Amino acid sequence: MFDLPDSEILSLSKEHVFYTWSAQAKVNPIAVKRAQGVYFWDVNDKRYLDFNSMTMCVNIGHGDERVIRAMQEQAAELPYAAPGMTTKIRALASQAVADVTPGGKLSKILFTLGGADANENAIKLARGYTTHRGLRQRFKILTRYRSYHGATMGAMAATGDPRRHAWEPGTMPGVVHFLDPYRYRSTFHRTNPDISEEEFTQDYLNHLEEIIRYEGPESVAAILMESVTGTNGIIIPPEGYMQGVRALCDKYGILMIADEVMSGFGRTGKWFAVDHWNVVPDIITMAKGLTSAYAPLGAVAMKPEIAAAFDEQVFESGLTYTSHPISLAAAVANIRVMREDRLVERAAALGPVLKRAAALGPVLKRMLSDLGEAHPSVGDVRSIGLFGILELVKDRKTKEPMAPWNGSSPEMVSLRKFCLDHGLFLYTHWHTVLIIPPLIIDEAQLQEGLSVLDKALEITDKAVL
Ligand SMILES: Cc1ncc(COP(=O)(O)O)c(C=O)c1O
Repeated sequence: MFDLPDSEILSLSKEHVFYTWSAQAKVNPIAVKRAQGVYFWDVNDKRYLDFNSMTMCVNIGHGDERVIRAMQEQAAELPYAAPGMTTKIRALASQAVADVTPGGKLSKILFTLGGADANENAIKLARGYTTHRGLRQRFKILTRYRSYHGATMGAMAATGDPRRHAWEPGTMPGVVHFLDPYRYRSTFHRTNPDISEEEFTQDYLNHLEEIIRYEGPESVAAILMESVTGTNGIIIPPEGYMQGVRALCDKYGILMIADEVMSGFGRTGKWFAVDHWNVVPDIITMAKGLTSAYAPLGAVAMKPEIAAAFDEQVFESGLTYTSHPISLAAAVANIRVMREDRLVERAAALGPVLKRAAALGPVLKRMLSDLGEAHPSVGDVRSIGLFGILELVKDRKTKEPMAPWNGSSPEMVSLRKFCLDHGLFLYTHWHTVLIIPPLIIDEAQLQEGLSVLDKALEITDKAVL
């Protein structure tokens, strides 16, 4: 349809494309040509195994005809309608999303374009909701330090990790950060790392409650958390933590917002990660796996009482492309594919091994733990469903990371290069390696990728002190 020789794609892009998260002179992108299943190919026909689902988003895998067809049909029928109108696909998509929320209880859906604006809108809803109750407006949002919530100014402010630093102090005011229940590097337990899970959990809940009290509960609109932390370390909350946060929210009249942009849509072996702990947040934000990135889309699912707060009060916000029909067609088809192919069960960390689709969560867990045993540079491994991480260290005793906080190191650069050279696409973040493949991956393909990583880890092993 559009002609450009493969050999010119990279050079023309270098001339005109401005890249995000990059120093422009240093960008050297892979020129991708096609993708199918768990693989993609560059313009030189080199095949890569996709161990990051591109940007942790292609949950159902590449090239699924069922989703592509749904988008094509929607484009032919009605490619766009104004935000104040409704369409068949808008009705169906909001029902499909509501149905997968915990117990179907978050039954009102606001569609956005991605994850950042889903979080921005969730914050606006939480702030507006408190005004409706006739109270002085609550405006503070509590989020954790090891978190990423998006790159728009409000979502950047909510983000705890250093990606916000470049934009401060110009980001949204009113965010207060707190510490994550991160067992491997627990701030409170350096001298007693063997503390019981129950006490560990309670210490972090006490810390959160103390911050709520210091800030003044009557000023706190919401606690916004990634249910399982993504790029900041696949931090899986200990038993009782999510329930404890829910209880604190109830005690102080604070809304609980679960950011499931990365952890949602089967990634952890449940539709949403909060389902592991049977917690129902007031609001869930989502994007990525919602359409498996076949089209851009985010959503805010909320309890009906939050929506009802705007029955008379106008919700002062909007997006030209909210509920874009082509994206919604992708979402509905994507959810159908996930159901038909039982992809949530496939990724499951627990539960019965299915006949057609083996539950791969335990398989990945075992494979990661084998890697950890074989390589002295692996300090810790964690995974839930198909959401895994290796923390690389120079010294298992001191836990000195293989790259500094917010930095890189020659070893981490070489490890990533080795993987790419050997056809394995994955994400490294500081001193960690993330394993976030499409949910359709099979055991042999997992093994294929981890065998490359096994060799790559010989590089970091050499740096062990
Ligand atoms: C947990 C989380 N929240 C929000 C976002 C922002 O989503 P988007 O890039 O679609 O704006 C991301 C993106 O990686 C994310 O991982």
